[in-house]
Amino acid sequence: MYRDRIRLASLQDKIMSAEDAAALIQDGMTVGMSGFTRAGDAKAVPLALAKRAETDPLQITLITGASLGNDTDKILAERHVLARRLPFQSDATLRRKINDGEVMFIDQHLGETAELLRGGQIAPVDVAVIEACAITETGGIVPTTSVGNSATFAMQARKIIVEINLNMPAALEGLHDVVLPASRPHRQPIPLTEVEQRIGLTYIPVDPARIAAIVITQHDDSPSNAAAPDDETRRIAGHLIGLLENEVKAGRLPPSLLPLQAGIGTIANAVLHGLADSPFHDLTMYSEVLQDSTIALLDAGKLRFASASSMTLSAPVYEHVLNNIEHYKSRLVLRPQEISNHPEVLRRLGPITINTALECDIYGNVNSTHVGGTHMMNGIGGSGDFARNAHLSVFVTKSVAKGGKISSIVPMVPHVDNAEHDVDILVTEHGLADLRGLAPRERARAIIDNCVDPAYRGMLQDYFERACARGGQTPHLLEEAFAMHLRYRDTGTMLPAPVAMPTRAAAPVTTAEPLAA
Ligand code: COA
Repeated sequence: MYRDRIRLASLQDKIMSAEDAAALIQDGMTVGMSGFTRAGDAKAVPLALAKRAETDPLQITLITGASLGNDTDKILAERHVLARRLPFQSDATLRRKINDGEVMFIDQHLGETAELLRGGQIAPVDVAVIEACAITETGGIVPTTSVGNSATFAMQARKIIVEINLNMPAALEGLHDVVLPASRPHRQPIPLTEVEQRIGLTYIPVDPARIAAIVITQHDDSPSNAAAPDDETRRIAGHLIGLLENEVKAGRLPPSLLPLQAGIGTIANAVLHGLADSPFHDLTMYSEVLQDSTIALLDAGKLRFASASSMTLSAPVYEHVLNNIEHYKSRLVLRPQEISNHPEVLRRLGPITINTALECDIYGNVNSTHVGGTHMMNGIGGSGDFARNAHLSVFVTKSVAKGGKISSIVPMVPHVDNAEHDVDILVTEHGLADLRGLAPRERARAIIDNCVDPAYRGMLQDYFERACARGGQTPHLLEEAFAMHLRYRDTGTMLPAPVAMPTRAAAPVTTAEPLAA
């Protein structure tokens, strides 16, 4: 049956085992693998490579679209196969190896990797490993649940390994729209003016002579690990919907809004779920990843069309979508991540972007990646691509983490991913700070008054007032700026120790204490 999936007959004799295909990858090579936020990832060859590394140690640079599923990053990291990894990951074992300094991780805007490869600014891809649902009559590769950077890898690699995944319906063909910008200085504008427009091919065009191996697989994508909406994320969604309603009333947004983008993760997914109960309709998405919330909005009749680079769904939604792909195919398109995240297209379409901060500071600088300023979580992903070029750039976060021991709003973030200049709106479950047109001192007041948890509000207010007394465009007390982080490191909480009262029991925490740990 799988032979029907390889429509160029001359490629049939390239079918081989994953082990034989993995033998094409040599120590020191740069390997480009399909996979974007756990979707459409190469599944058999990386595991065969990891197995081989048990007796034949080797190290590679691994480039993907974004994170991989099926524990691939974990297994490759455990077998010490990864010397360098880019541009994104979300695996706990790999994260540990990155933070231990064993794996050199290059955390990159997801829209930029293809450009760097094309311009020869990073080492070229030697071997590409691409999951596909079919190979066309001309040798074109039809991707599965993501496009990611696969087209760039396949066009650049000297050798291509295709994993034909029989668990992926052949009817996925037609879902994709593959086009890449030309090399500079001969580049033309990207002619994409509507979210639903198709401007490319439904497959990745390659010279079939470079397809060196075809491996037949039968594995599902790993399900999304986003948690369900909770009370706090519902409140965040409520604040944001209130803002959008006001924007429509004020005539700054049309009733169908502008295309929506929502980042990966629990909070952004939950916020989009909240739109199901909003008054908006005829919505569109121009995002990099489609989550369960996209399908819920399509099914609720709220969303007209969604464009992205991958679909990362929970197990039941994944099964439902793949079983009904003909139904969804006319309302979805998957594009190369260079196009889904392209500044030119984003500036034209003007999306409302919703991305998640680990923490942000009182002026609106966002840290999405570095816990405590030093330890990598996942990576910046596409948040910077979208936030800089949005019509309205929203960042969401719960006001506290780790049961209230961490405030997500701090005096100064110890690492900046998205600078204050790219943050229009900040939302926590307590409220929303509209930062548009505000100077730093005004931004700080809006954030402290609206977004900070009451347990930390007095503390941040006190810091800000004392900093203002010292002066500056963006006032700070440099010797205290990281005191909350230091207190968490040293005591396990950013809250000050309760002050022992000499007389009757009194208030448990003095929230206006100076920050010094
Ligand atoms: N300090 C330390 N840890 C924090 C924290 C902080 N200020 N804020 C949150 N965390 C922890 C949470 O406790 C949780 O830990 P756990 O996994 O041990 O439970 C973890 O970070 C994830 O937080 P959660 O609240 O579940 O949110 P999320 O699933 O939405 O993820 C990000 C949040 C920031 C990690 C995630 O959105 C991300 O990686 N973003 C960067 C990439 C991006 O924005 N891409 C956009 C386009 S796809």
